Amino acid sequence: MKRVFSGVQPTGNIHIGNYIGAIKQFVELQETMDCFFCVVDLHSITLPQNPEELYKHTLDVAALYMAVGIDPKKATIFIQSHVPAHTELSWLLLCNSYMGELSRMTQFKDKSSGKDAVPTGLFAYPALMAADILLYDTHIVPVGSDQKQHLELTRDIAIRFNNRFGETFVVPDVKIKEVGAKIMALDEPTKKMSKSAENPLSRISLLDTPAQIKKSIMKSTTDSDNEIRYDVENKPGISNLLTIYSLFSGLTIPEIENKYKDSGYGTLKKDLVEVVTGSLSEIQDKFYKIRESEELKIILQEGAAKANTIANETLARAKKKLGFVML
Ligand code: TYM
Repeated sequence: MKRVFSGVQPTGNIHIGNYIGAIKQFVELQETMDCFFCVVDLHSITLPQNPEELYKHTLDVAALYMAVGIDPKKATIFIQSHVPAHTELSWLLLCNSYMGELSRMTQFKDKSSGKDAVPTGLFAYPALMAADILLYDTHIVPVGSDQKQHLELTRDIAIRFNNRFGETFVVPDVKIKEVGAKIMALDEPTKKMSKSAENPLSRISLLDTPAQIKKSIMKSTTDSDNEIRYDVENKPGISNLLTIYSLFSGLTIPEIENKYKDSGYGTLKKDLVEVVTGSLSEIQDKFYKIRESEELKIILQEGAAKANTIANETLARAKKKLGFVML
């Protein structure tokens, strides 16, 4: 059976971009593949975090995984810092990667630009991500399009290690959806929707109230010609709303264009509020039940136990190949 690995950072509330671009795929993949879904808390401290919020968001992401339909009987859900092999393998991989390739990562460039003091962890971030993936002999990594470059680097590091030390790691393939791989910010539809953007109206979080969802959608930036047509280049705002509408309703974009051919943006936005609010309220009902249950921590302990077994085997394989003494 093919193995799948993916992760989400607990740096804020998960938004509909994370859901549509990545997590929705997780739910489908668990039916046919051996899936590992991780809350990557070690990645989130590459930028300063408030400890209380980190604690809360870590458990929130785990509960949201389940609320959207990841079933712990079918997939393994765990917290990255519960499996020490991630940190250890990342060091081994850092020593087999280069300053040049890490400096070329656009995410590093974006997150470090304009900063006087750039945390070293931010630079080393992709080696930790490679460790996450390679530890589980992963075949497929479902992500949004912003992670494509990190996946290419993971493949390069795995191939280089295998060539230097002999067959050790499975070289993973990336899986990016055709539609929804990059949901844009609602206030600035030429930028991707992000957990950390300052303006809360730029995103819709999975835990937003109906009033917040309404405000973000109704205030979203669109052009002034009032024609409902999918055209990313000339009409990025309305195209983004059409994509979100399509992925939440199950209607195709041409079906939605046709439905609103005689209406304006106001009508489309109002209906989109209904569509999104309906879907998110179902997720939220499940979320609050899971988040408050004792079961959540038990599931995470069981997930960590399973992950540790597999990760430790791979780590030992890599250490032997490097020439470490294993007693
Ligand atoms: P993170 O936490 O930023 O995002 C989680 C997932 O959501 C996707 N995503 C989006 N998809 C569509 N539109 C958007 N606006 C949008 N924003 C985010 C991301 O591509 C991602 O799939 N480095 C990763 C976490 C990670 C990881 C891994 C992923 C750590 N180790 C190993 C896969 C495998 C990150 O920061 O994702």
